[in-house]
Amino acid sequence: MPHILITGANGQLGQALKAQFSSASRLTCWTRPRYDIADPAIAGAVAELAPDVVINTAAWTDVDGAEEAPRFAFEVNALGPKYLAEGCARCGGALVQISTNEVFAGEMGRFYHEYEQTSPGSVYARSKAAGEQAAAAVLDRLYVARVAWLYGAGSGNFAAKISAAADRHGALRVVNDEFGNPTYAPDVAAAVAKLIETQRYGIYHLVNEGCASRYDWAVELMRLTGREALPVEPIRASEWPRPTTPPRHAVLVNQAAAALGIALRGWREALREYAQTEFNS
Ligand SMILES: NC(=O)c1ccc[n+]([C@@H]2O[C@H](COP(=O)([O-])OP(=O)(O)OC[C@H]3O[C@@H](n4cnc5c(N)ncnc54)[C@H](OP(=O)(O)O)[C@@H]3O)[C@@H](O)[C@H]2O)c1
Repeated sequence: MPHILITGANGQLGQALKAQFSSASRLTCWTRPRYDIADPAIAGAVAELAPDVVINTAAWTDVDGAEEAPRFAFEVNALGPKYLAEGCARCGGALVQISTNEVFAGEMGRFYHEYEQTSPGSVYARSKAAGEQAAAAVLDRLYVARVAWLYGAGSGNFAAKISAAADRHGALRVVNDEFGNPTYAPDVAAAVAKLIETQRYGIYHLVNEGCASRYDWAVELMRLTGREALPVEPIRASEWPRPTTPPRHAVLVNQAAAALGIALRGWREALREYAQTEFNS
């Protein structure tokens, strides 16, 4: 069993990875403030620990908030992966850098494969794209694993928020012209575990199969949790103003991992398991 280090281990994906690797003989979990990936000294700490694989889930994930604090977003999302990669380069480890579908512009109707040019729009997206590049500049043993629309245990994700809003208001208004891949964090964790066994470094899109609008996602969750009678009104993104304009159709295609036999199940099937786990539905 390899020695795995998870950074940002208290986050949504960090928790799923902790569960995935709980039987690994050596698992180290780092959280801030003790282990701040934006601190250049983190490179030395990684080199000293000398894990076989670092899985970096730590990130500035407040997409709208990043517009007001670009310096801090870049410190965490661009320089953090660079420092971790430097540490890996010094100790002979590999790095799994978790990235995002938002590195693509998300033009309506487009489906993005791993080899396509990135074109990030928001501060958050630019900082994540910079993190991919900064890590690649110092480390060959690098997996860039792009994920999208993550949800799992906890209250901070779209599925949990929409469920709480349904209970609070008895009705929902949900954007129907923004598309993505709803992706279950435990499925990403299982895919990462398989990926690191391959030692085939490169860029991967680890998303549940299929795409959905936020409206589709909400309607399916209501159905799976016995709330199919709850009114859900489709609205346009322009009716739900935000400080950033999220990509409209940053839908990822998993080609590279699928070629290695690593494919995630369909998003509806994964959502069913989430509903059973979180809502006993
Ligand atoms: N959520 C999504 O829909 C989504 C979509 C695409 C890509 N991603 C990417 O997936 C990864 C995991 O996302 P997630 O949903 O699990 O995020 P999350 O729940 O917000 O977790 C991120 C974790 O990073 C930690 N962190 C933030 N700054 C740090 C720093 N400077 N040093 C160390 N730790 C720090 C946070 O610590 P605190 O607990 O102290 O705040 C938090 O525990 C991220 O790389 C994100 O960019 C997420």
